[in-house]
Parts: sequence; C-alpha cells; structure tokens
Amino acid sequence: EPTYENILVERAEGGVGLIRLNRPKVLNALNQATITEVLHAMQTFDNDAEVRAIVLTGSERAFAAGSDIAEMSGKAAPDMLADRRFSQWEELRRVRTPIIGAVAGFCLGGGNELAMLCDVLIAAENATFGQPEINLGIIPGAGGTQRLVRAVGKSLAMEMILTDRRLSADEALRAGLVSRVVPAEALMDEALRVARSVASRAPIAVRLAKTSVLRAFDTTLEVGLELERHNFYLLFSTEDQREGMRAFLEKRPPVWRGR
Ligand code: CAA
Repeated sequence: EPTYENILVERAEGGVGLIRLNRPKVLNALNQATITEVLHAMQTFDNDAEVRAIVLTGSERAFAAGSDIAEMSGKAAPDMLADRRFSQWEELRRVRTPIIGAVAGFCLGGGNELAMLCDVLIAAENATFGQPEINLGIIPGAGGTQRLVRAVGKSLAMEMILTDRRLSADEALRAGLVSRVVPAEALMDEALRVARSVASRAPIAVRLAKTSVLRAFDTTLEVGLELERHNFYLLFSTEDQREGMRAFLEKRPPVWRGR
C-alpha cells in the first residue's frame, strides 16, 4: 500500500478496512492532500473484494475540525473553482462499500460534511457536530446545506448553518444525524463491530442496498421505488439469494459467495 502522510490505513479482521484521519496538530483539518488520500484509500478498499465495509475515524479529540482554513484563506473564487477537492468529494459519494463513520470530539464544517458522506454514523459521548462556516464569512461547501437538512430537518439545519449552533452527541442522536452514541473508550470497538456485521452479509445485496438507500436522497419517490424494485429483482439472479433462502429453510447459517 502507498505511504500516506495525512491518514493511517489498515485492514482490520472480518473484511473491514480502517481509515484514520491523522493531522493531530490541526485537529484533522482537511487540506487538499488529506481529501486526496482519503479518496485514494477509499477507492483502493472499494476495489478490493476482501474489504466489505470501511470504518472512517479521526482522533479522540477531533474527527475533523473542518476544511483547512490556513490553506483556504488566501484563495480567490477561481482557485476554489479549480480546486480538485470538490470533484473528489463527488467521487467519495460513489464508493460502493458501506462506510461506517466513528466520530469523537470536534466534527465541524467540512469534517461534519465528510461524516455525513458516511453511511452509518456512530458518535462518542464527547462528539460535537456543527457547521461554523458562517463565522468565517462563508457557507458549507461540501454538501452541508443539502445533507444536513436531509439528516436533521430544516429548522435545526438552519440554526446550525446560520448561527453555528452545535449539537452534542445526544442531540445528534435525537435529531437522527447519528444512529448510536457510545462512551468514548468504546467507540472503535462499536464501529468495528457494526462494520464486521455489514461485512458478514451477502456482498451484492449489501452494495445494492447502499445504492438504493442513497437514491432516496436525490430522486423522486417514484424513481426511487423503481430503482429499488430493479435491484430487488436483480438479486434473484444471484447464487446468494438461493443460498440465503435455502439456508433459512434448512435452518442453518448461510455461506455467502458474493455471486
Ligand atoms: N483549519 C486549520 N487549522 C485548524 C482548524 C481548521 N479548520 N481547526 C483547528 N485548527 C488548528 C488551530 O489553528 C490550532 O493550530 P495552532 O496550534 O497552530 O494554533 C490547532 O488546530 C488547535 O486548535 P485550537 O487551538 O483552536 O483548539 P481549541 O480546542 O481551542 O478549539 C476548535 C478547537 C473549536 C475546533 C477551533 O479550533 C475551531 O474553531 N476551529 C475551526 C472550526 C471551523 O471553523 N471549521 C470550519 C472550517 S471551513 C469549512 O469546513 C468549509 C467547508 O465547508 C468546505
């Protein structure tokens, strides 16, 4: 595997790939190089049939405190327009392997937007979520105005984006931004457990489930239902569908082949 400068990458047992943001001095601020590395590592895992779920995390102090303000500060609109980062965010969206985000500490700005690109979010009790861009005279630029609304609803999203209201882990849970809150020391175990659980399921069904759920965000109900139905039919062409149903009827655990 290539050497990365801003992230740590490893394979955990049970078909799980682990990516850890690692710029501790700046609370994992996301500079261009970090996003490039995250995308590279994600795509490498996505192309590896042995990896069936990915965990993305930061440190105990910060998942990520936002885009790197020092790097952005001198930029003008044409520089931002030319910035590859935004097309890379789009490519991150196309990773087919489910991504479990494990969030502790600050999860702000671009950090929160990166977290919202994850498919399942698990928070440590000390996590804080926010979109503080308004304090810098800008707005979220990597999906925050769109994904936060879909995650927590209009009123709360507006407050967060207009006034830098921050959410505690429990508030994030109640608002539906995350699906679990655990004590900080249990965060990685819990994220790896959920990831292994995903990784142990029928691989094609997992991918089509992820694709289908994500479509709920960007299409009409009618088109989404149609896509779901197509994916549902498609699974009846897999060996794993036969195996799954046969195993149920024979009262034994299924053996998935990913075919
Ligand atoms: N970019 C660059 N550096 C950052 C950073 C960021 N987003 N966040 C923190 N750092 C740096 C600090 O400058 C500081 O560096 P020095 O030690 O060299 O001074 C170091 O990380 C530690 O931070 P603090 O001393 O500020 O730590 P703290 O515990 O007092 O405060 C914090 C933590 C509340 C998160 C505070 O650092 C903060 O407010 N950070 C900025 C948060 C923010 O505005 N994020 C949005 C960025 S814009 C964006 O993300 C755009 C987008 O949508 C694409």
